Amino acid sequence: MTTLLPLPRIRTADPSAAVAPERALRDAYGRVATDLRVSLTDRCNLRCQYCMPAEGLDWLPRADVLTDAEIVRLIRIGVTRLGITTVRLTGGEPLLRQDLEWLIAALADLRPAPRIALTTNGIGLAKRAARLADAGLERVNISLDTLDAQTFKKLTRRPRLDDVLAGVEAAVAAGLRPVKINSVLLRGINDHEAPMLVQWAMRTGVQLRFIEQMPLDAQHSWRRSEMVTAAEIHESLSQHVNLVEDPADAARRGSAPAELFRVEGTEHAVGIIAAVSRPFCGACDRVRLTADGQLRNCLFSRTESDLRASLRAGATDEEIADQWVRAVATKLPGHGINDPSFLQPDRPMSAIGG
Ligand code: 5AD
Ligand code: SF4
Repeated sequence: MTTLLPLPRIRTADPSAAVAPERALRDAYGRVATDLRVSLTDRCNLRCQYCMPAEGLDWLPRADVLTDAEIVRLIRIGVTRLGITTVRLTGGEPLLRQDLEWLIAALADLRPAPRIALTTNGIGLAKRAARLADAGLERVNISLDTLDAQTFKKLTRRPRLDDVLAGVEAAVAAGLRPVKINSVLLRGINDHEAPMLVQWAMRTGVQLRFIEQMPLDAQHSWRRSEMVTAAEIHESLSQHVNLVEDPADAARRGSAPAELFRVEGTEHAVGIIAAVSRPFCGACDRVRLTADGQLRNCLFSRTESDLRASLRAGATDEEIADQWVRAVATKLPGHGINDPSFLQPDRPMSAIGG
């Protein structure tokens, strides 16, 4: 059998040595996008309640999904011409792309070399973590909302808790540090588990981040009044562990959305991402590319810029870079979830990428 897998290699590129880009992805409010999130597929092998209905969604036609070569070309333009320094690969579930190791190796070969991260549900990671790390993957975020097999099955509608736990262990063993765990708490389902998740994260050597549930589900069932707020999460954790604010955190935080707390007496940090109740849009440095090649300047955008059409119509790198600059320039100041006039985006999270 032939294999497309890259050989293990030593990572020598220093991302901080990046040369100044020709132009920056600057918006009208002075924010500069340097963090590109690329959805590799809208498909998923779970059906998380806060994301999609039990029957799944109408997946994108395969012909509309960008090929590896198209993805590499767009990211090369972002990295070499537009100041993109970090690339996070997301989904749906990005591990459903069998050629992910090849893609990561191709991205790691770009100069200046971007930092490469992955957001995954962890299924199938146990077998692939070491090869992904060898290919050039630096960091991984794994979604895990519960440690109880029954609750996992209810929340994700699939009995795969053990696969995810094995994936987390493999990620730690492969040195994809820091391994971050994303947890979404749903009222009456897993919201009582926050302290247990923290204990588990400390034992396992991973950094837990709780994310407020956002209105991004395909079923449009999100209700502000039902959301477990960051304040509630903090309160529930505080009954079990002493969380201390790290005064240096705010300074270091920059555009990172998690407010980090330290479990007193330990080096262990817990993040709480108050995406809805304390939006961090003012410091946003992200731009997103969907699996079908649409550029979105915000998770909650109501417009997209069709890079795939340009790519397939023979546009030059320069023309694509121009289109990208224009798309970011019109980024709105905030997501507006808290405005009465807020409208959820047409695409669900699984088709945008986290
Ligand atoms: N609100 C908050 N987080 C979500 N995620 C998926 N849907 C939502 C939502 N509606 C999280 C997943 C995953 C990351 C991509 O985003 O748990 O960790
Ligand atoms: Fe899949 Fe992530 Fe959506 Fe869950 S939240 S169904 S893991 S894409």
